[in-house]
Amino acid sequence: MSDHLMNTYARLPVTFEKGDGATLHDTEGKSYLDAISGIAVCSLGHAHPGISDAICAQSQKLIHTSNLYQIGNQQKLADKLIEHSAMEKVFFCNSGAEANETALKIARKYAHQNNIDNPAVIVMQNSFHGRTLATLSATGNDKVHEGFAPLVEGFIRVPFDDIEAVKAHSDNKNIVAILVEPVQGEGGIHVPQTGYLKALREICDNNKWLLMLDEIQTGIGRTGQWFAFQHENILPDVLTLAKALGNGMPIGACLAQGKAADALVPGNHGTTFGGNPLACAAGLAVINTMEVHNHVPAVAKKGQALIESFQATLSNQAGIVDIRGKGYMIGIQLDRPCGELVGIALEAGLLINVTRGDTIRLLPTFVMSLEQTDFLVTKLSEIIQEFLNN
Ligand SMILES: Cc1ncc(COP(=O)(O)O)c(C=O)c1O
Repeated sequence: MSDHLMNTYARLPVTFEKGDGATLHDTEGKSYLDAISGIAVCSLGHAHPGISDAICAQSQKLIHTSNLYQIGNQQKLADKLIEHSAMEKVFFCNSGAEANETALKIARKYAHQNNIDNPAVIVMQNSFHGRTLATLSATGNDKVHEGFAPLVEGFIRVPFDDIEAVKAHSDNKNIVAILVEPVQGEGGIHVPQTGYLKALREICDNNKWLLMLDEIQTGIGRTGQWFAFQHENILPDVLTLAKALGNGMPIGACLAQGKAADALVPGNHGTTFGGNPLACAAGLAVINTMEVHNHVPAVAKKGQALIESFQATLSNQAGIVDIRGKGYMIGIQLDRPCGELVGIALEAGLLINVTRGDTIRLLPTFVMSLEQTDFLVTKLSEIIQEFLNN
């Protein structure tokens, strides 16, 4: 293994060489069921022929020109995202953190346009928004902040899924926006009560705040709707996407509508690579594939069935705190730290993740077969039972 990589990740001792669908193959020839999808990225599985063909064909025509010129694929992908989200405008970038940076810059511009000189954004405890200085400052996790002071100012933190805690700040004239994940992902798969987003929308309307939804993990079908806000029939002012939008090709997007849509003007924001012809070709192929195969409604049903299967096999097991989720975003919380389960599952040919120390996180591909689903439930339940009973 190379010593020349910065020590930013505690990597597992496995190197994958190729993939197909929900399966990954390592350099030793061993196969694994991928139940984490590169952290909610490869929703359509690995080496998807439709996505690979689109990337291949586009790379042979044109990869990059810069945003100094019109980019046809960017316009087409923006049209598709608007069609599915009912937002109005799109800015393309390369990652989730950049999409959230764009959202935060929109909030600041909106504030200054309204003569608010010292603007603040309400953010949640236990949230995750990225690793740039502004997005790590917005993130509600002390470990992420550690060693990076001084943090970016202008964030007010409240508990997640607590409407009264937000309302308590209604008199603060510096607040301009709320930034929230519709389902907390890194924070341990926390699904708020039904009506939470609707209530936040109402508070934002009453106070002229922007409702900014971080759908970097929940977006593009993951929860069984194209976007998680559609479960509550509301529209945010700002919506951020990345992860599954390119099925592995790096691409992010910040969408806006209404008063947020025109906050940024030429010279305010930009990125060299953002929305290049290649990344947008991948994004177009992803959306097209999801449309043609009706993946999004299928995920709603299959996700619910998967949660119920785990509840059936594990709810009576001592040491299980909760089995929860929405669509293919599932958390199994134990009463003790369980990070070692990742290595045990790897040995057994299963890729899972543990977040917040005690919660097994599953983000399966949308193309997992029935047989693979059975393997996931049986094998993982067995691993958890053995871990908890010993
Ligand atoms: C909700 C959420 N926001 C933002 C990010 C950051 O995205 P990226 O790693 O692409 O910068 C993540 C990544 O896990 C995320 O889950």
